[in-house]
Amino acid sequence: MKTFTVIALTTLLFIPAWLYADDDDDDDRRGSRGAAATQRLPASASLTQYQAECGACHLAYPPGMLPTGSWVRLLDGLADHFGENAELDPEVRTSLRVWLGKNAAEQGTHSTSKKVLKSARGESPLKISELRFIKKEHDEIDPAVFKRPAVKTVANCGACHLDAEQWSFSERRIEIPR
Ligand code: HEC
Ligand code: HEC
Repeated sequence: MKTFTVIALTTLLFIPAWLYADDDDDDDRRGSRGAAATQRLPASASLTQYQAECGACHLAYPPGMLPTGSWVRLLDGLADHFGENAELDPEVRTSLRVWLGKNAAEQGTHSTSKKVLKSARGESPLKISELRFIKKEHDEIDPAVFKRPAVKTVANCGACHLDAEQWSFSERRIEIPR
């Protein structure tokens, strides 16, 4: 009996976020008018570093939206990062690698982490926008919309998702720019 209780308690304490996060981001729905609840990780020096190094050209994407292997591949390929040179000092790269690993999809740090892992099918894709479920979410949008000057590319999540900076992509908080 005692063992059972201990196990049950331990399990309760370590339930990853995605197990209790509803598929449709119910948290976000609470205030349909106001800004959605943040899904950002708590403030830390590492988060600040990540924002500074990986948020300069685009959204500092949620670590929980790609598997660990994807982050490792991205960090290993910064010299040619989608045609840009995004090289970092080896020390910075190592610290980002550790932090991203601790917060990647396997750790369930984002409400979409479970879908991310399912979509990645054990592979390490370089783009969130190429994940099957993300593509499916967007497949009803006319491709021309992504080419509008205010959007430019599907990687520009914040052009349409008003709370992208909060790492929240609730369907209640979308406005497609004209
Ligand atoms: C010098 C500018 C620059 C910096 C700095 C940069 N990136 Fe990028 N990143 C890009 C470009 C350009 C793309 C391609 C965007 C597109 O497909 O339209 C991209 C795309 C991505 C994507 C894929 C987005 C998608 O479509 O899902 C990820 C993930 C990513 N970057 C992660 C990072 C990480 C992690 C860092 C920090 C180590 C970083 N980036 C730093 C320019 C940059
Ligand atoms: C051109 C505008 C646009 C861009 C850019 C865009 N999205 Fe979306 N996204 C949408 C729309 C519209 C929907 C809603 C689809 C629906 O409700 O059927 C959506 C749905 C989603 C959903 C599902 C939301 C839910 O509550 O079910 C996620 C997650 C998402 N997008 C993530 C992203 C990410 C991550 C990026 C950037 C890599 C991105 N989106 C870029 C327009 C956009």
